[in-house]
Amino acid sequence: MYDLVIDNIGVLVTAEGNKPLKGKDQGKVRTLENASIAINGEKIVSIGNSGDFKEAKKTIDAEKKLVTAGLVDAHTHLVFGGYREYEVPLKLAGASYLDILNAGGGILSTVKSTREASKESLYNKAYNFLDEMMKHGTTTVEAKSGYGLNLETEIKQLEIAKELNAKHPADLAFTFMGAHAIPPEYKENKEEFLRIICEEMIPKVAELKLADFCDIFCETGIFSPEETERILTTAKEHGFRVKLHADEIKPIGGSQLAGKIKAISAEHLIEAPDEGIESMAKGGTIAVLLPATSFNLGKNFARAKKMIECEVPVAIATDFNPGSCPSFNMQFAMTLGCSKYKMTPEEVIVAVTLNSACAIEKSEILGTLETGKQADIIIWDAPNLNYIFYRFGNNLVDRVIKKGKLVVENK
Ligand code: NIG
Ligand code: FE
Repeated sequence: MYDLVIDNIGVLVTAEGNKPLKGKDQGKVRTLENASIAINGEKIVSIGNSGDFKEAKKTIDAEKKLVTAGLVDAHTHLVFGGYREYEVPLKLAGASYLDILNAGGGILSTVKSTREASKESLYNKAYNFLDEMMKHGTTTVEAKSGYGLNLETEIKQLEIAKELNAKHPADLAFTFMGAHAIPPEYKENKEEFLRIICEEMIPKVAELKLADFCDIFCETGIFSPEETERILTTAKEHGFRVKLHADEIKPIGGSQLAGKIKAISAEHLIEAPDEGIESMAKGGTIAVLLPATSFNLGKNFARAKKMIECEVPVAIATDFNPGSCPSFNMQFAMTLGCSKYKMTPEEVIVAVTLNSACAIEKSEILGTLETGKQADIIIWDAPNLNYIFYRFGNNLVDRVIKKGKLVVENK
């Protein structure tokens, strides 16, 4: 007797295994027609043909639709105070992302709102985001801190993420990003801020076990590659796996460094040069690409095909945050993956499931539809994989199963 059977699946499309897919394998998926999935508790226990699993406490009829693994958003800044819609006219008047930040706005305005916000208000806001994300098919979310830039608020953000993980059906991954910008109080004394990050924040976040990953904004005028290396080396010494925001605006050496220090991922990579891509390939670094940010900032799109050609595994995420990407819609990012990166639907589906699960070290438990993996499943309102890229702009998620439970019924 199975706890749950999803029967009458038109077509099931999934990557396989626990390792990131790269190069010619970036789009390697298993496609099964007329399939059925048997689930016990939180896990998939068998995959077979439609009608194979008759003994079930509950059966969901997939109505001949497309089924994939739940989407993994491997890059978000989930917990933040306030919004920044006031930037819209500023940008239209010609102000760049860095102009706004350097004038004390941008990230720093969100830092002010996040420091001022109560824990409860931040928690409720992020909880609602997770609900909406799930309705759009996202079942696992990485959450970065970085809107505190002081120990107290960084801890507040990470504790909220931990609590969300305990209370919300979504799975979360936790990233400390105290080096997201230079806070106003250390504007004239960056060295002291670097010292605080290395000697106070990183050790404390490690001691409290509030994050598994450490990220940094390696960018012109923010943190140089040398400062990035210093911080990430300290983070490694304290047991963190490291990530970097690299080559988002200017290619100052972030992707080269990512490969050199064997970062688990480098993210953005809009302007990544050939040497950076080669370094990432050597270092086994995953490229987490964020096309909705390129779209929103009116920037170039990362050279995803070049990365695939050079054997760098590509993942796609949203970058959800109140500034550079106020959208958490993975389907929109997937559309851009196809239309702007020119990745195939198969390459994109691997990028948003298995490869993104690898970027947050969760591929042992989720990211594919296979026996033994967590039952994180989307039934799409679509007859095949191409259709979800073709009908862009609409929420095409019909139902979502998370850890074996039906959590979303959109129709
Ligand atoms: O990934 N670039 C740095 N951090 C975020 C943006 C954060 C913000 O604008 O608030 C990003 O784009
Ligand atoms: Fe980001």
